Amino acid sequence: MNLYDRIPNNVNLSEDKKLQRALEKWLPNYLDWWQEMGPEGFQQKDVYLRTAISVEPDGWANFDFVKMPDYRWGIFLKPAEADAKIGFGDNFGQPAYQEVPGEFRNSLRRIIVTQGDTEPASVEQQRLLGKTCPSLYDLRNLFQVNVEEGRHLWAMVYLLHRYFGRDGRDEADALLERRSGNPNKPRILEAFNQPCDDWLNFFCFTMFTDRDGKYQLSALAESGFEPLARTCQFMLTEEAHHMFVGDTGLNRVVKRTAQLMKEGDDVRELGGIPLNIIQRHINFWFSYSLDLFGGEISSNSADFFAAGLKGRYREQEQYQDHIAAEQSFTMRVVDEAQLKDREVPLRNALNEVLRGEYVRDCEKGLARWNKTLADEGIGTRLYLPNTRFHRHVGEYAGHNFDVEGNLISAEEFEQRKSEWLPTMEDREYVRSLMHPVTEPGKIANWIAPPATGIKGKPFEFEYVRL
Ligand SMILES: [Fe+2]
Ligand SMILES: [Fe+2]
Repeated sequence: MNLYDRIPNNVNLSEDKKLQRALEKWLPNYLDWWQEMGPEGFQQKDVYLRTAISVEPDGWANFDFVKMPDYRWGIFLKPAEADAKIGFGDNFGQPAYQEVPGEFRNSLRRIIVTQGDTEPASVEQQRLLGKTCPSLYDLRNLFQVNVEEGRHLWAMVYLLHRYFGRDGRDEADALLERRSGNPNKPRILEAFNQPCDDWLNFFCFTMFTDRDGKYQLSALAESGFEPLARTCQFMLTEEAHHMFVGDTGLNRVVKRTAQLMKEGDDVRELGGIPLNIIQRHINFWFSYSLDLFGGEISSNSADFFAAGLKGRYREQEQYQDHIAAEQSFTMRVVDEAQLKDREVPLRNALNEVLRGEYVRDCEKGLARWNKTLADEGIGTRLYLPNTRFHRHVGEYAGHNFDVEGNLISAEEFEQRKSEWLPTMEDREYVRSLMHPVTEPGKIANWIAPPATGIKGKPFEFEYVRL
């Protein structure tokens, strides 16, 4: 572990002078980007953050007060296993790739760039949220997510520099040049160009969009390109907290709304967020996040699986047949203005298979929030819209569906859109509630306090010293 290098790492960076120099050249550009696009107004504050200082189970989460620009962004890969093998596809059982297989160089670079692009994008989307935090606990969690997304960018940039030569270095530079929501140089994926400027959007983002990240990283953690697999395996340990922030954040909003519903008929009058506004935000972020998995029927997914580069979720634990060349998969497609079943080779349906795993995971979140409603004695329930609803990528893009997944006309969708998706008015209302609460132990009126604090500290702990 080279923790005290300029770039902390467990990849023996000091032994590869050329790579080290290239990354040290990228570092100041990264820091400039962080100052320009990172959390605004808090760069000089002490924040109670965890820092990865080793990949060992007991050492990777080191908690202390840190100023964000001094956070040790490092390169950490899960230790290599001896004799790693390709775990699936046509080359199943052969030695894992230690270098990029030539014929997949371009598509693998594209995958890494696309994943890498989401990391700084989310920091950009969230950069103003600190100014309206509901509590110091939440403020700290926001910053924890932000610095770790920065580290995930580092993880992808390391792979680009180390394995893709000149093209990789150019791509690493471009990752600092695109900007979320900027029409001239947008981020690659649409969910990462959507504004995330209030805390309801933030919790939905970390619940649904970070969770897409979990599934993409899990599929890549199976990769036969071993450096990518080991990078993603370590990123997943950090990602878990991001989804915790979203899942419990929404649960706390739901809980507070339920409490206010018992106090009076009009939650708005009491300063809470009505359940139908929460539902519309769920619909919005869930549907955009589904798009991130790519088309339902995809020759790319088949090629990547065949090559042993991108596997299924928990490929080793969940499946017996790692070749998956014979099976087929039935899915609903739109055919002459009707929904019909179509059978496709399983390998071409792997985006959809991964999306299915994701949906089941999201449903657990919904079940937790609905339990909160039930515990508070409220009869209303929240739900996930059908996966065909409001899609912009894949089989269902260009068609219109209601939240149950029925094909409807464009006119009907237009007419009913305000039932299903956040309206301008919803957004303005939510924004009107966003006032900073920064006294230790205090919390905004529209959200319940968390059940526990961070790392055994109480909720009242001063997580950020302002
Ligand atoms: Fe990330
Ligand atoms: Fe994340």
